Amino acid sequence: MGSMVFLLPLWGIVFREHAMEIDFESVTALERYQFLTHTVVPRPIAWVTTVNSEGKVNAAPFSFFNVFGSNPAVVALGIGARRDDSPKDTVRNISDNGEFVINMVTEKLAEKMVQTSFEYAHGESELEAVGLSTVPSISVAPPRIAESPVHLECRRLSIQEIGVNRLILGTVLHGGVDDEFYDTDSERILTDKIGTVGRMHGPAGYTRTHDLFEIERP
Ligand SMILES: Cc1cc2nc3c(=O)[nH]c(=O)nc-3n(C[C@H](O)[C@H](O)[C@H](O)COP(=O)(O)O)c2cc1C
Repeated sequence: MGSMVFLLPLWGIVFREHAMEIDFESVTALERYQFLTHTVVPRPIAWVTTVNSEGKVNAAPFSFFNVFGSNPAVVALGIGARRDDSPKDTVRNISDNGEFVINMVTEKLAEKMVQTSFEYAHGESELEAVGLSTVPSISVAPPRIAESPVHLECRRLSIQEIGVNRLILGTVLHGGVDDEFYDTDSERILTDKIGTVGRMHGPAGYTRTHDLFEIERP
């Protein structure tokens, strides 16, 4: 009974007694996007700064992002194309010079982060447009967003084209966290105090990171 099909409203999406099943190969890209972004939650947000060939700073958020190892330290970004199919500025800049900074997004910065996702013309600075400033990085040319308290300075490992997406892998060369969020006595980063936000489902969904619980490992 558990596998009995009783409704077939759309080709590729099947409702069973206990589940909605979706065949990724026969539904639309929007349906795949919606399934993935409603189920793989929360996603961390990389607010990425890069520089173009004229030295202009670009900033944009990406929630197809995570860390994939610490030895070596590897991060990945999944970046789609612009509406006109051209590559996003972040991809162009990382292809051209291979460096980027991931700035973490806090509750205080979330609104401005979203504003920087607007498609500005290539070379126009999102950060100036939303009233944010930069400070130089330590090991890469793109600067850090000054108002963000956590920074990962990265160098491109590879850019893989997968359909219209670019999967960018980077090595983290340097990390920084504002001293307000570092306890020198315990030598620990005060993660709860930072207030990093995550991306949830829907066009405007985000989550805070305060509702913690602990489970000891066996
Ligand atoms: C919270 C958030 C997360 C986003 N995640 C992604 C993502 O993972 N991949 C992507 O291609 N675009 C993502 N976007 C859209 C980009 O930020 C947007 O296309 C931006 O204009 C790209 O800027 P660029 O051309 O300066 O690189 C996201 C937007 C927001 C607000």
